[in-house]
Amino acid sequence: MTVTRAEAFAPATVANLGVGFDILGLALCEPGDVVRAELRDEPGAVVIHIEGDGGKLSKAADKNTASVAANSLLRQLGSTVGVNLTIYKDLPLASGLGSSAASAVAAVVAVNALLGEPLNTLELLPAALDGEASVSGYHADNVGPCLVGGICLVAGITAETLYHLPIPSNLHLALVTPDVAVPTAMARAALPTSIPLKTMVKQTGGVARLMDALYRDDLEALAAAMETDTVVEPARAHLMPMLSEMRMVARREGALGLVISGAGPTLCSVCGDAMTAERVAKTMQHTYESAGIAAVGRHTQVSPRGSWLLSPEEIRVRTG
Ligand code: HSE
Repeated sequence: MTVTRAEAFAPATVANLGVGFDILGLALCEPGDVVRAELRDEPGAVVIHIEGDGGKLSKAADKNTASVAANSLLRQLGSTVGVNLTIYKDLPLASGLGSSAASAVAAVVAVNALLGEPLNTLELLPAALDGEASVSGYHADNVGPCLVGGICLVAGITAETLYHLPIPSNLHLALVTPDVAVPTAMARAALPTSIPLKTMVKQTGGVARLMDALYRDDLEALAAAMETDTVVEPARAHLMPMLSEMRMVARREGALGLVISGAGPTLCSVCGDAMTAERVAKTMQHTYESAGIAAVGRHTQVSPRGSWLLSPEEIRVRTG
């Protein structure tokens, strides 16, 4: 049977995990984006409709991460197939939750299915990365975990440099997303272009401590290691409203630590149980609201599964 339509879900991601700038990231259970791919007559992939972006995203084939990624995949396969893409965004834009990566990943997973799955999941990485790179440069700390799930070390930008790390058994995350857009390009422009050797040694030590904590299933050590970043957070702190206050609030409510999620402004707290994470997320949200900043608090966990193709039943449930 010829498939003429496929839909894929791709999860939100938390990149960097504090100290691991551009090399560490994790996939979340929710929220996520869905992309539908349908065959059309003319060659190439185009975005025909976007829902949930408030009209903010470009549909231009060379500007939307979904179409850039889908066209890169078609080129990689030497395919002249034509594809219409519809994007259902559940991820807030420019929020530090890997919104651009999720659309790129869902697009390549859906288009690959439409073509009869010529590539395996890891082989989709380069095309998804091309999509992400069109808005924020080549780094795979969102795209990697979004595609394969779990907690990932992405030591480079190829599938060979993507490593799965252990997921601590009781890891719960409390996220808060204030209603302030921080485009990744702006957050990257705020970073230093060089750092002293001593700082490099400290940062590398922090990443090593983080990996050790994951392998020992030690949440306290994990949160402490994540917070050892002395390069990226100080340079971006001014873009994140009430960062130090939020860290205090999260700790007071029982969180073990707090870092900026990706390029921000979402903040991510590490918690050891569901009740604490619920409480931390709610309190952070209320703290922003009391200061006149609209915010969304979420309790979620690491998803061991990355992007996946929706079954007919899942599509039926999604579209009601
Ligand atoms: N590692 C990236 C950054 C993630 O912090 O800029 C955002 O795309």
